[in-house]
Amino acid sequence: MCGIVGYVGEKEATPVLINSLKKLEYRGYDSSGIAVINSAWNEDSSDEAIIVRKCKGAIKFLEEKIEAELVKGAINGKVGIAHTRWATHGEPSDLNAHPHTDVSGTIAVVHNGIIENYGELKAWLQSRGVVFKSQTDTEVIAHLLNYFYTQGAEGVRSENTRGDIFASVHAARQKLVGSYALGVICKDFPDRLICVRKESPLIIGLGQNENFIASDVPAVLEYTREVYFLEQDEMAVLYNDHVDLFNAYAEKVVRQPFHVDWDISSAEKGGYAHFMLKEIHEQPKALHDTLKAHLVTEKSASGGKEGKPVALSFSDEINDADFKKMIQNAKRIVITACGTAYHAGVVGKYAFEKFARLPTNVDVASEFRYRDPILDKDDVFIVVSQSGETADTLAALRLAKSRGAKIIAITNCVGSTVSRESDYVIYTLAGPEIAVASTKAYTTQLMCLYMLALCFGSERGVLSRAEFERLLTELESISDKAQNILDNKTEIQKFASKQFNKSKIFYIGRQFDSANSLESAMKLKEDSYMHCEAFAAGELKHGPIALVDKDTLVIAIATEPSLYEKLASNIIEVKSRGAATMVITSDTSGAFDSCCDSVIQIPSGESALESMLSVIPAQLFAYYCSVLRGNDPDKPRNLAKSVTVE
Ligand code: G6P
Repeated sequence: MCGIVGYVGEKEATPVLINSLKKLEYRGYDSSGIAVINSAWNEDSSDEAIIVRKCKGAIKFLEEKIEAELVKGAINGKVGIAHTRWATHGEPSDLNAHPHTDVSGTIAVVHNGIIENYGELKAWLQSRGVVFKSQTDTEVIAHLLNYFYTQGAEGVRSENTRGDIFASVHAARQKLVGSYALGVICKDFPDRLICVRKESPLIIGLGQNENFIASDVPAVLEYTREVYFLEQDEMAVLYNDHVDLFNAYAEKVVRQPFHVDWDISSAEKGGYAHFMLKEIHEQPKALHDTLKAHLVTEKSASGGKEGKPVALSFSDEINDADFKKMIQNAKRIVITACGTAYHAGVVGKYAFEKFARLPTNVDVASEFRYRDPILDKDDVFIVVSQSGETADTLAALRLAKSRGAKIIAITNCVGSTVSRESDYVIYTLAGPEIAVASTKAYTTQLMCLYMLALCFGSERGVLSRAEFERLLTELESISDKAQNILDNKTEIQKFASKQFNKSKIFYIGRQFDSANSLESAMKLKEDSYMHCEAFAAGELKHGPIALVDKDTLVIAIATEPSLYEKLASNIIEVKSRGAATMVITSDTSGAFDSCCDSVIQIPSGESALESMLSVIPAQLFAYYCSVLRGNDPDKPRNLAKSVTVE
């Protein structure tokens, strides 16, 4: 997730762009940059036609970098684009920051989204002599545009692109696979700004003798409340006095602008009351993006549509041959992390043991680092960390490295310390997580752990080809199933409104469901401050049942049909002692109807994978209880998002 803004109008563009960009810092903040068409430039001058300034770190560093030039009037231009980045391809650096330009500096581009076929396009451009400067997927767009703009487009539905920037953008977008919102400027057209979107959001702000583009409404609210929400595959050309909208076929469309009457803070949250709720709702996309980055599909014979998934590839981040050798030699998996990431590791243990038949240990990093752990060079050490900066996790990683283990990191932050110090890195493409209680980072960590477990299982011959492909198809369905749960969230809200005053809550489950219940309980503790614990259901009778009375709520997670009966017995035991009961289940046969006060249905499938979906109702339950109890779900008391000290 990144933030883009663009301006065309009567004012100097740079201060407006920087000001607007700051409103989008919640979308990414590891580097930023601007590009403006230089109003002093002409064919005979030696000046840059498009002035580009970029900087690693928060927007304030970019501001500091350009301050002196701005005062001197050295960055003057009335048309420009700017970007705040959350790295996905290439570490945060000045070079990888957007905007990106073609080799001649004629065209500049900002991009939000992921170009899935960038490797293919890069090779195609390199074979035509293009030299790349950055490691980003976005740079291919700048070069592709320049190629079409100077050479013409072959084989795309747009006959004459030479010298026509609009036609070049239209042709280029037909070559791009993935998600994108693009802002494009061209030195030969100093009166306009072009934009296009697919999947990633983009809005157009309509001002008086000025117009804007932005990834989100807050960026323009200071200047205008009249906006167009650009629809899927639409393009637009902005001039200072008007905006032309076009559909996917480059035909003009006309519609009325939308008047925004929300305040800035609710606009930043995309209309959701809190970042936590917004991030819970972002899970289908985050899960889709994380899987898509590694899923190899067979192109179906008809129409070139994506076919069934056949493999997983980590080759963007990883040298395949070394990685495969490590998988073959692995004797044991050791997973280490803290907090939510540790809970993901517990699920990972079940996944590696089931799908790859490899013994797996999972450890809390703060314990691991002081235990003088037994490690060997054939142990694969997996470190899981949303931030990539947690002190205990880093110490555990360094210890494992010093003992010769191979390190795989799963992290959400490109360029983080964990990512730099590991042998291999798999990124969760969740985008920035603002709410302290982790939601989309957890489910995307699970997605990565499942992908790795299946990859190990397939490479080591534990999973047959047919079984591997079946499981990949199941994984592919997870994102839609997550959406289905979110579409039916009112049941959970109703249940929360009846139960938010309970004094003791227990989550129970068996196998994968027991692992996922740890994170479910954590969400409730963090956000509602209700006392909540998670137990393997079979352990209830060995102690915890002594606590059960009429003030207790027991929430069971049940996604494995062969264990329904056993779990139902556990629920009956607590119900007969006065507890209120709810089950989160994929069962559709009514197995829990008689013993549960409430049944939350989640979609069914391969239970070892679908179990991860059970956490979504639990996240929602925690969120609603938090709000009902008058807490701030985004900033739970006493907690920090990233713990970089011991
Ligand atoms: C803090 C956060 C948790 C997080 C944990 C590990 O305690 O409040 O939400 O799970 O750190 O963070 P990491 O960035 O390493 O995943």
